[in-house]
Amino acid sequence: MSASNGIRGGLTNYGDKDFAAYLRRSFARSMGLSGEMLEKPIVGIAMTPSGFNNCHRSMPDLVEAVSRGVLAAGALPRPFPTISLGEVFLNPTSMVYRNLMSMDTEEMIRAQPMDAVVLIGGCDKTVPAQLMGAVSANVPAVQLVTGPMMTGRHRGERLGACTDCRRFWGKYRAGEVTDEEIGDIEGRLATTSGTCAVMGTASTMACIAETIGMSLPGTAAIPAVHSDRMVAAERSGRLAVELISNPRRPSEIVTWKSVENAFRVLMAVSGSTNAIVHLTAIAGRLGIRIDQDRLNRISDETPVLVDLKPVGEGYMEDFFAAGGVGAVLREIRHLLHLDTVDVTGQTLGERLSGDADWVDRRVIRPFEDPVSREGGLITLTGNIAPCGAIFKRAAATPGLFETEARAVVFDGLEDLANRVDDPDLDIEANDIMVLKNAGPVAAGMPEAGYLPIPKKLARQGVKDLVRISDARMSGTAFGTIVLHMAPEAAVGGPLAAVRDGDRIRLSVSEKRIDLLVDEAEITRRLAERIPPAPAGRGYRGLYSRTVLQADEGCDFDFLTHNGSPKEN
Ligand code: FES
Ligand code: MG
Repeated sequence: MSASNGIRGGLTNYGDKDFAAYLRRSFARSMGLSGEMLEKPIVGIAMTPSGFNNCHRSMPDLVEAVSRGVLAAGALPRPFPTISLGEVFLNPTSMVYRNLMSMDTEEMIRAQPMDAVVLIGGCDKTVPAQLMGAVSANVPAVQLVTGPMMTGRHRGERLGACTDCRRFWGKYRAGEVTDEEIGDIEGRLATTSGTCAVMGTASTMACIAETIGMSLPGTAAIPAVHSDRMVAAERSGRLAVELISNPRRPSEIVTWKSVENAFRVLMAVSGSTNAIVHLTAIAGRLGIRIDQDRLNRISDETPVLVDLKPVGEGYMEDFFAAGGVGAVLREIRHLLHLDTVDVTGQTLGERLSGDADWVDRRVIRPFEDPVSREGGLITLTGNIAPCGAIFKRAAATPGLFETEARAVVFDGLEDLANRVDDPDLDIEANDIMVLKNAGPVAAGMPEAGYLPIPKKLARQGVKDLVRISDARMSGTAFGTIVLHMAPEAAVGGPLAAVRDGDRIRLSVSEKRIDLLVDEAEITRRLAERIPPAPAGRGYRGLYSRTVLQADEGCDFDFLTHNGSPKEN
């Protein structure tokens, strides 16, 4: 093991250094640590338990298992808290706090005396925040996830948060499920510790963390309650100790090649739209940017191989049993950069060199027989989204891919809430619903892009219609939904110009979304726009003033690499 200062590491450079070391040791002693332990190198454990985060319920067990691994490998584990983001408990949206958590993580790694760090996250925004913080702090780091939930049961059917939450709520709104049954379902959707049971944002980010090389190979999909999850934690602790004497820093692991590999896997697992924003932000911390044409090329070349909800049938427990991320990587091996290095020091080519284990082909399909020939996500551009928009074609209705229709416009979240179920709302099944002012600056970019089907249409049996916005949607949602339109309406993006009754054209084959209104008229309408009031005080004020648009990952402008990401 390399020379480490143990608890004396990172002492400030002013005053009497010996006194500072003496003081620090003395205070460390008050935690009941022997002098011998204080000589050891230190592995920090960024832990994120919270009474407001169900997905991290198993955190105490994981911290204990990581600590065991660290101790067994000869170092001193030091768990420390950072803020925790429980997706469904945060207002106005957890997205607002991702950057705050990334700053907390980065600064606490930097400020405290640790030689390496294990980061334990799980719920949607936590893993992106930890990876953003870790790559910026650039101390040797291992990402560990809490793992997905197991499914519940209802009348002989498996249920998993949160695709089935939406499915049953949709039925309830349409009057097909009673009050009593929806109450029963509520208690059966999320029944164990862990993250959402489908390929939503949390699971997608776990797959990305493994592919990019920051997590131990084979660990992304292990269920939260499986004993292997604890073993993964123990091994992550051991690995962090190895990284002290043989450092591989996050900046050596997260490269444009490993970022491209992660985008490939995002397509092959048909992952969450949110993952594009998060991966863009993580890469942006190192000045890496994958442009939109490249992203579309990756999507067009990479088939969807994984048959999981919200796009397909299975749940994360099936994905784990079927072979997990390793099995997917093998299928798309010929498309990957094989010379990337993961946190263990092996190249991706080395990882994939052995024979594949048994793979359940019902869940992870062979490259030649995919779920669909093309990747799940694409970017669109057009005159209402000059900096792009995201479309999850794998979760959309192909019959709506080429739509030209009348716009029904909602001016913001409040307007949507007030009018969407109004029986007098002027809307028909083949209209396009438009939501403005739900982007990063206006509203923190909530998951409002999954606009509810107006009740009057739902009752007529309408299951889907084209919906467009500058918001996000949950990774567990589905529908013909155009999201992340940039620039957003609140900063003067052309989405602000759309009015009721305008014609809009969506063309998935051309990867375009356009407002069929004269450019001069669009310019005139935008000039008439009344800009929103300037941002107020505190963190929310900082957020509004410095958040970047969706195509740049919604990071703060002062946190990206040298202030702005560069194209690859
Ligand atoms: Fe935490 Fe879905 S609510 S992962
Ligand atoms: Mg989610």
